[in-house]
Amino acid sequence: MERTLSIVKPDGVKKNLIGEVIKRFEQRGLRIAALKVLKLSKDDAKGFYIVHKERPFYESLTSFMSEGPIVVMVVEGKNTIKKVREIMGATNPKDAVPGTIRSDFASDIEHNIVHGSDSKESASYEIPFFFSSLEIQ
Ligand code: RTP
Ligand code: MG
Repeated sequence: MERTLSIVKPDGVKKNLIGEVIKRFEQRGLRIAALKVLKLSKDDAKGFYIVHKERPFYESLTSFMSEGPIVVMVVEGKNTIKKVREIMGATNPKDAVPGTIRSDFASDIEHNIVHGSDSKESASYEIPFFFSSLEIQ
């Protein structure tokens, strides 16, 4: 069993896609082991996306991620990191395979509805960023 951190980003929450995202994970046999709604401050968002601090999009990405409520969740299952990335689709919705969340709902490369950890290493930073061990069941 493997765990990953997924986020319904502010655009996904605004578009009422929380249930849609969870449904797609569950339909692929993954289970939700932790879940909450919260709002990041700009500094929280900068901490979460610290790996991207040298990237040109760091400023706008962290503003976007702190502009409204998000849903954070721990998703658990076999090969869950890879599966969640497949269900999400490519970062840029123009490159995403039809039937993926980003192809179906994202408006552009930044406003792309959903996040998923990209490796075991990222998941081990991102999960404890939001959840204590008591909150993961
Ligand atoms: P994520 O981390 O959110 O799951 O997305 P990802 O792995 O597919 O993409 P990543 O390269 O990690 O980028 C993180 C998020 O930054 C925004 N972004 N904007 N304007 C741009 O060129 C650009 N590139 C990336 C997106 O919101 C992306 O998901
Ligand atoms: Mg990423």
